[in-house]
Amino acid sequence: MKILSIETSCDETAAAVVENGRDVLSSVIASQVEEHKLYGGVVPEIASRRHAEAIVPVVKKALDDAEMKIEDIDAIAVTHAPGLIGALLVGVNFAKGLSLSSGKPLIPTHHLRSHIASNYISHKELKPPFLCLVVSGGHSHIVMVEDYTKMKVIGKTRDDAAGEAFDKAARTLGMPYPGGIEMDRIAELGDDSKFDFPRPVVRDAPYDFSFSGLKTAVINMIHNMEQRGEEIPKEDICASFRKAVVELLVSNFMKAAEDYNVKTLVVAGGVSANSLLRKRLSEESEKRGFKFFKPDKSVCTDNAAMVGAQGYYEYLSGNIADLSLNAIATLSIDYR
Ligand code: KG4
Ligand code: ZN
Repeated sequence: MKILSIETSCDETAAAVVENGRDVLSSVIASQVEEHKLYGGVVPEIASRRHAEAIVPVVKKALDDAEMKIEDIDAIAVTHAPGLIGALLVGVNFAKGLSLSSGKPLIPTHHLRSHIASNYISHKELKPPFLCLVVSGGHSHIVMVEDYTKMKVIGKTRDDAAGEAFDKAARTLGMPYPGGIEMDRIAELGDDSKFDFPRPVVRDAPYDFSFSGLKTAVINMIHNMEQRGEEIPKEDICASFRKAVVELLVSNFMKAAEDYNVKTLVVAGGVSANSLLRKRLSEESEKRGFKFFKPDKSVCTDNAAMVGAQGYYEYLSGNIADLSLNAIATLSIDYR
């Protein structure tokens, strides 16, 4: 089964053709990041306009690259939630129009479920059940993936997402949006024991995260150094901050895996590209005899191939929409 998939939830306009949820026949991503960099973050109105401009050529290129026409496609999957509402609406409305004109079924797909599904592309043998750490710019979740479309949230952030904490700390250090990537690169050059940042825990909720205190601690420290006219040791700050975020993620995730007695662990979302997080999860999984899967770096951040992967399993489970489908800004990953 060949699915044409569309993703416009944030600042990438993306389309792909994916066969049977696992094989990527084409994948096109038009990033708006250079424009949003000017403002230090995603400007929703600009995102919607750029999606509207890019959607036709991006979908056309995805079909061309797969050497297909719309008649060769079996269904259309689209990210309908969660995300920036104006951005999501561009993809959803385009997909509805294409579904109506072509007569192909329309599959609504949850963005975070798609991030998890990026692993099905990278690891053909991976099947639920498994425990997944989903870490993106907007979410930090520990999810029990009982089946492809059946999930339970075990833990989540009480405030900022991990990616958001990276981006805000990086911005204070003068790095361009999205700073998480640059921070990861600079951290490699620093001493991670130079600064001892707090490791906040959420009382009575051992699988939940809290990153805002840690973020505020690093921002205050940088501002104080600037006020005193000191030189900012960027490398050491990045290394120490990255270590603190990664330690919090890894320790809660391992605790959840032990308590729930799962043997297969998976990581997903933009922050899963973080080199220390990938390394530490591999090490801690190996120590405990867990199998550990991480997506290829090429599918960690937003793309449409992962939407085609998850869309396939949504289709098999009967999740097919009619033309009343709407975009939803906030929707839990365990919505049905
Ligand atoms: O999943 P994603 O592409 O978009 C959302 O759904 O939010 O995640 C983007 C986030 C950004 O916060 C970005 O800074 C972060 O992923 N990110 C990283 C790295 N690569 C991307 N954070 C830390 N280290 C990285 N290497
Ligand atoms: Zn994402």
